[in-house]
Amino acid sequence: MTLRQQIQIILDTHHADTKQKLPELAARIEALRKTKSGDQQTDRLARAFMQIKGEMESHMMKEEMILFPMIERAEAGMGMTGCGVQGPVSQMLYEHREAKNLLLEMTDAVKRIDGIDPEIATAVTWLNDDLYEHIRKEEEELFPGAMKACGAGMEA
Ligand SMILES: [Fe+2]
Ligand SMILES: [Fe+2]
Repeated sequence: MTLRQQIQIILDTHHADTKQKLPELAARIEALRKTKSGDQQTDRLARAFMQIKGEMESHMMKEEMILFPMIERAEAGMGMTGCGVQGPVSQMLYEHREAKNLLLEMTDAVKRIDGIDPEIATAVTWLNDDLYEHIRKEEEELFPGAMKACGAGMEA
C-alpha cells in the first residue's frame, strides 16, 4: 500500500469517525454535568474530555493541513533527503502520548461515576479503542514509511 493510500484510509475512518463522535459525546457529557452538578468525577470526566476534544481537533487539523501533504510530497519524490517530516512527526508522537493520558483519565472517571449514562461509557470505550488503532496505524505504518521516504530513521 502506498503512503497516500494509508493516509486516505486514516482520513476516511479514524479522522472522519472521530470528528463525528466528539460533538455527540460533548452533548452527552454536558447533559450529565447538569444532572450531576458538583460531582467530582463528573467534573473530572468533563475536564479531560474538553481537553482531549480540543487537542484532537487541532491535532487532526495539523496532520491534514501540514504533515499528510508533506508525506505525500515526500512519497512523490522518493529518495530525497531532509524533506522535513521529522519535526512534525516528533510533535505528533508527543500529542499522541498526551491523548492516551487523557483517555486513561476519562476511562477511570467513567468507572467511578454512579449511574453513568451507558451511552457515555460506550462512547468513551469506542474513543479509546479507535484512538489506539488510529495511533498504531500512524506510528507503526505511516510515520516509519514517511521517514523512509525522506531518507531518515524513525526515532521512538
Ligand atoms: Fe491522525
Ligand atoms: Fe495522529
